Amino acid sequence: MRFLKLQLRFLVPLIITLIIGSVVVLGVMDRLALRWFSRDLHMRGSLLASAFSDSIADSLATGQRYRLEHLFERTVKDERLVAVALCLPADVLGLHSSAYPAELSCKQATVIAAQTDPSWQSESGPVHIGVYPVSSDSGLLGKLVLLHDLKFVERRTGDARRQLLMFVLGLGFAILLITMVVAQMSWRGWISSVRGILHRDGHDALPGSTRRELEPFIADLRLRLRDLEDEYRLAQGSDARWTAERLRTLLRTQLSGDEIIVVSNREPYIHEWQGEQTIVRRPASGLVTAVEPVMRACSGTWIAHGSGSADREFVDAHDRLMLPPGHKDYALRRIWLSDEEVRGYYNGFANEGLWPLCHMVHIRPTFRESDWETYRAVNRRFADAVVAEAHSEDPVILVQDYHFALLPAMIRERLPRATILAFWHIPWPNPESFGICPWRREILQGMLGSTILGFQTRNHSQNFIETVDRYLEARVEHEHSTISFRGETSFVESYPISIEWPGSAASADWPSPQNCRDEVFSQLGLRAGQRIILGVDRFDYTKGIIERLQAFEHLLQHNPQWIGEVSLLQIAAPTRSALADYQGLHAKVHDMVAALNARFGRAGYTPVILQNVQHDQRWLARLYRAAAVCVVSSLHDGMNLVSKEFVAARDDEQGVLILSRFTGAARELSEALLVNPYHVEDVAQAMQRALLMPADEQRERLASMRMTVQEFNVFRWAGHILSDASRWRLRERIEARVRRRRED
Ligand code: F6P
Repeated sequence: MRFLKLQLRFLVPLIITLIIGSVVVLGVMDRLALRWFSRDLHMRGSLLASAFSDSIADSLATGQRYRLEHLFERTVKDERLVAVALCLPADVLGLHSSAYPAELSCKQATVIAAQTDPSWQSESGPVHIGVYPVSSDSGLLGKLVLLHDLKFVERRTGDARRQLLMFVLGLGFAILLITMVVAQMSWRGWISSVRGILHRDGHDALPGSTRRELEPFIADLRLRLRDLEDEYRLAQGSDARWTAERLRTLLRTQLSGDEIIVVSNREPYIHEWQGEQTIVRRPASGLVTAVEPVMRACSGTWIAHGSGSADREFVDAHDRLMLPPGHKDYALRRIWLSDEEVRGYYNGFANEGLWPLCHMVHIRPTFRESDWETYRAVNRRFADAVVAEAHSEDPVILVQDYHFALLPAMIRERLPRATILAFWHIPWPNPESFGICPWRREILQGMLGSTILGFQTRNHSQNFIETVDRYLEARVEHEHSTISFRGETSFVESYPISIEWPGSAASADWPSPQNCRDEVFSQLGLRAGQRIILGVDRFDYTKGIIERLQAFEHLLQHNPQWIGEVSLLQIAAPTRSALADYQGLHAKVHDMVAALNARFGRAGYTPVILQNVQHDQRWLARLYRAAAVCVVSSLHDGMNLVSKEFVAARDDEQGVLILSRFTGAARELSEALLVNPYHVEDVAQAMQRALLMPADEQRERLASMRMTVQEFNVFRWAGHILSDASRWRLRERIEARVRRRRED
C-alpha cells in the first residue's frame, strides 16, 4: 500500500505533465502544419502559374478563350483545388473555372492572398487564396487566382494530430510502465537489503554487492534504532529504582547460589606504609568507584593486583582479606606482580599500547613484543587465580577492562560452563584505528571467550562488532547483537556505568554547602566570596587538563573582571608516573600553571591551584559542594564518573557542570554545558556562561541531571548485566536439559 502511494505521488504529476504537454504540442503542430501547407500551396501555385503562362499568352493572343476555360476546368479536378481564375491587368476578372465564387473580386483576392493567413470563407467552406503573377516575353499578362480547399488541410492536420496523440499516449504509457517496474524492483531490492541487513542471520544472507553498497547507511540506521531503544528505555524509566537491596534480591532470585568473581587490575583498597604506620586508601579509579558498591551488595571474591607497599601485611595465608575495612562484605584476593611484570603488562602493553590505542587523543601507541608476552603471561596468572578461587563449575565472573583482554578465553578453556561478563571501561576505537595493533586478532579472540561483552556506549559496542567483522571469521548477528566464533556465542551490549547514589547516611555526613565553602576556602587560603572552578581527574593526558588551563587563561584575558574573583582548583591524582608521556604532561602542566599564576596572580590571589595528590571521597564531596563550577574537559573518555559525582553531591541544586562532548557521560547529562575541549574559546565561553548563570537555571539543570544519575545508578548497571547473564544461564540450562533428553 505504502509503495502504491509512493508510486501515485510520482504518477499523478507525470499524467498531468503528459496532458499539458500534449495540448501544447498539438497547438504548435496545428500552426506548423498550416505553415507547411501554405508553403506547399504557394509552391504549387507558382508552378501552375508558370506552367499556364504560355497557354494564357496564346489564348489571349488568339482569342481562343474556350481553350483556357477548358484548361481551368481540367485543373480543378485535383481534389485540393476548388477554383481557378485569371485576373487581367487593372484587377479585371477575366476567365475562371465554373466553381469560382462570383462575389470574390480580383482586388479582394489579391488583398487576402497578401495576409499571413490567406484563408477565406466561401459558401462551400474555407479556402486558401493564392495569387500568382503570369507573364510572357512581352510582359505581365495578369494574375492567376487559385482557391484551394482548406478542408483538405484540416483533414490532413486531423490525421496527423490523431497519430501524434497516439504516439504521445503510447510513449507516456511506456514510460509509466518502465518506471513502475524499475521502481518496484529497486524498492523491493532496497527494502529487502535493509531488512536483510537489519535482520540478517549471517554474512551471506544477501548478495554482497547490495549489502556493501548500503552498509554505511545501514550501520548508521542500526545505531539510530538502538539509540531510539535506549531513549525509549530512558523515557520509560524503571518501575522500581535500583538499589543495593534490589541487586541483592536479583542475585538471590535469579542467580541464587551462584558465585560471583570480579577480576580487575586495580584493587578496591590499597594498603600503604607511611613511615612506621600503614594507611588504607581508595584508588582514583572510575572502575573501583563503580564496582566496589556492587561487590558490597553481592559478596563474592574480587581478584586484583596487590599494588600497595603494605598490602602483604593485611592478607591471610591465601593472599585474601575481607573488605571493606571494618566489614566483611566480600573477599579480596591479591595477586603479586614483579616489577618486570608491572613494566611489561601494566605500564607497557596496557598503558602504552591499548590505552592510547583506544583513546583517540593523538598519543602514539607503543607496541613491544616483550610487553605483549608479559601481558599474556599476567593474564594467564589471573586465569589461574580465577580457577583457584572458583568453588563451582559455573561461577559468574566479571572481568574488568583492557588489562585483561585475553582473560575471558583463558578462563573459558578451563571453566567452560562459567558465565563470563567482560566490561570494557574505556572507549573502543573504529576498526581502522584498532587495526594498527599487531595482536589485534589475538585480543579479539581473547575477548570473545566472554558470554557477555559490555561497553560504555552504543558507539563503542558497535565499533567492537565492526572490528570483529573486519578482522575475524566470525558470524555477527546484528539483530541480536551477538557474535559467534568457533562454536561459542558472545552477546555484545552497552551498559553505561555509573556511581552509587549517595544514601541518607553519606549525605548526612556532608556539611552544608556554605560550611563546605568555609572549610575549603580556609584550607586553600581563598578570600571569602571568591569562586572556584573545579577540575578533578587522574593526571592523565586524556583528561584535557592542558586545554582546560588554556581556556581558563582565555577567560581571564578576555574577562578581566574575574581576575582576583575566580580560581581554578585542579586536583590531579598521580597515575602511571613511570611513563614518559605522563612525565611530559606533568612538566607541561606545571609550566603552564606557573606562567598563568605569574601573569594574573597578585597578593592574596592565586589564579590556578594545582594539587598533584589524591583526595579521599569525603574531601572530594566537600570540594564538589564548595565549587561554583565543575569542568570535565576530557579529550576522550569511556564514561567519566567525576561528572556524576559532582551532580550527586549537589543536593542544593546549585553549581554548573561543564562537560566534554567526548565523554560517555555527555549522552546522559545533556543538561550540562556541553563543550568541545579542543575548542579553547568554546570552553572559555562556557566558563563565562557558568559564572553568570542565574540560580534558577542552575537549579533546573541540576535537578534534571540529579534525577538521571539517581535513576541510572551503578546498581542498575550491575543489575542489567547480571539480569542478562541470568537469562543467558537459564537458556543454557534449558538447552543442556534438551540435549540430555535427546541423548537418553
Ligand atoms: O576509569 C577508567 C580506568 O581505565 C579504569 O579502568 C582504571 O582503573 C582507571 O581508569 C585508573 O587507571 P589506573 O588503574 O591505571 O590508575
